[in-house]
Amino acid sequence: MSGSFGKEDAPIGIFDSGMGGLTVMRALMARLPNERFVYLGDTARLPYGTKSADTVSRYAVQAAGHLVRRGIKLLVVACNTASGVALPALEKAFAPLPVVDVIGPGADAALAASPKGPIAVIATEGTVKAGAYPRAIQARAPDVEVMSQACPLFVPLAEEGLIDGVIAELVAHRYLDPVLAQKPEALVLGCTHYPALKGTIGKIAGPGVALVDSAEIAARTVAKRLADDGLLRGGTAPPGHAFLATDAAERFARVGEIFLGIKPDAVELVDLQ
Ligand code: DGL
Repeated sequence: MSGSFGKEDAPIGIFDSGMGGLTVMRALMARLPNERFVYLGDTARLPYGTKSADTVSRYAVQAAGHLVRRGIKLLVVACNTASGVALPALEKAFAPLPVVDVIGPGADAALAASPKGPIAVIATEGTVKAGAYPRAIQARAPDVEVMSQACPLFVPLAEEGLIDGVIAELVAHRYLDPVLAQKPEALVLGCTHYPALKGTIGKIAGPGVALVDSAEIAARTVAKRLADDGLLRGGTAPPGHAFLATDAAERFARVGEIFLGIKPDAVELVDLQ
């Protein structure tokens, strides 16, 4: 940043493998209405959830690097898979930039809902394989039992807008019935896309299971970090946001509305190296 703008006027960078991270941006916009956001969806390389940890880390560092070159003041890793495998690489590559992921806040939220467990986590194959949620939960509460289940079809269902009805329910039963048989007290929606299917998941899980969405607590974490670092944006100038995608900008604008609640306008196409 230059001229009369201070660091606090810089945008918050958010990245995800695609559009799902807009659920996190939605929570951030609600909590921090005065902040500017620049959102990058790596739509050309989605999904991250089925790729190896090395590949996801490389992609994540490239995506974050692009945002850093745009002068962000804080990075939000909205993608659970990238949070699970790339957080150390991101913190190292861009230090001292503050980096907030979704898994730590998700673990806090899960334990707030169910301090003694058992806790079930549903996520992508990559997040489940990395063991990121059980590690984060058990680092905070070693005796809590955590079970995990990958739900890969939830991502395309959410992107197609098939978030309720018979198809969504059949798929959800297939994934959730074995997990629910273990009687979890809380179910973590450990993937950006799953909050879109919250209605269906909640219907199948029933009222005795607390659904945990890390977006809200991640937004709280960001707000606290900005306040602690003296980086909250003041003034009354309207914030203005930017949306970047690595492919299919038109689809981003259309499907993004499912996740953001409003239509993301003026999506700019970018190339990551
Ligand atoms: N953003 C990913 C996540 O939260 C889901 C989509 C993907 O597999 O890339 O894990």
